[in-house]
Amino acid sequence: MTVRFNSHLTSIPGYTPGVPKGHTAEDVAGSDLAQLASNESPFPPLPEVVEAITRAAGAMNRYPDPAATRLRRRLADRHEIEPGQISVANGSCDFLLAAAEALLEPGAEIVYAWPSFSMYPNMAAMTGAREIQVPLNEDQTHDLEAMLDEITAATQIVIVCNPNNPTGTYIPFAEISDFVSRVPDHVLVIIDEAYIEFQTRDDPALTVDLLKDFSNLVLLRTFSKTHSLAGLRVGYAMASPAFNGAVNAVRQPFSVNALAQAAAVEALEHGDQVQRQIEKSIIERVRIESEVRDLGLTTADTEANFSWISLGERGPEIEDEVVGVLAAAGIVVRPGRLLGGPGWLRVSYGTSEENDRFVAALGEAIELHG
Ligand SMILES: Cc1ncc(COP(=O)(O)O)c(C=O)c1O
Repeated sequence: MTVRFNSHLTSIPGYTPGVPKGHTAEDVAGSDLAQLASNESPFPPLPEVVEAITRAAGAMNRYPDPAATRLRRRLADRHEIEPGQISVANGSCDFLLAAAEALLEPGAEIVYAWPSFSMYPNMAAMTGAREIQVPLNEDQTHDLEAMLDEITAATQIVIVCNPNNPTGTYIPFAEISDFVSRVPDHVLVIIDEAYIEFQTRDDPALTVDLLKDFSNLVLLRTFSKTHSLAGLRVGYAMASPAFNGAVNAVRQPFSVNALAQAAAVEALEHGDQVQRQIEKSIIERVRIESEVRDLGLTTADTEANFSWISLGERGPEIEDEVVGVLAAAGIVVRPGRLLGGPGWLRVSYGTSEENDRFVAALGEAIELHG
């Protein structure tokens, strides 16, 4: 007899890490490898944040505050909502899995667009719920009407990723607001806003205002992309106290470690510097998109910290060769076939120098294989 694991395990998709096998994030930081595969911030954490982590490290003999009181209060002040509407987690991924556990079961349904964030398929797989993946429009945007059409009495969760990973495409606030108002009350609407600060079309505070009218709405945000804290794992949800209670019920009490709490509290004190880094990424976005188009390639209309690049009609055939040429030049990107979009590449923006290297190597790859 051998140990028999839960039958759901066989359907849970594995995660392919962005750092190549055998490397740690620290090796990558000290090397020539351009790590453009995980949409992280290319900027190290601010010195004040590193100091706060060092100070907190001296008290590691104690458990962290399970309620993350100080961090939740700061986030509530920042977003002008009540602390009871904020919950923090070990990265925003933690909320996706907790929401699945709290709301899904065999017979329930979850609706989301595809291609979208690779963690969503895990939610159905781990619970035995039925997933409905609604294909993106041809321009790589969400087809919100088709998503609404898929909602039934059995639907428990609908997710909209905005801007969408891996395509970077953005749904304007007016359309999000209309969508949320048309989803029936029994369905939890998760708007995954991991990249919302990089979009330049709307004020990111607008969706927060919707919380007043829709108790079935959850907004997910993270310190991983804009606050340079991907390695510490800290994300937050803005939602009804009922949602926050449900996800807390299915998670361990200490899901956000003390270093992460201290770092996030400090990072919130430096909004101006964080904003300047976001602006640098947006400037790089404009430049890279234009240089990639000069190579004769097309891209989705991105509002995120990464580009989604079509390799053309022969894309699915040449994708591996292109990724290989980039890897030989020390540049790691995500091949689209791993993200539900064969023939495409997703590249995160790095430092200006890394971005220059990426565009030059992509040019060579297209010349060789395009
Ligand atoms: C759309 C989306 N949501 C959530 C996450 C997870 O973020 P976190 O690091 O907070 O778990 C990511 C990370 O890549 C993402 O792309």
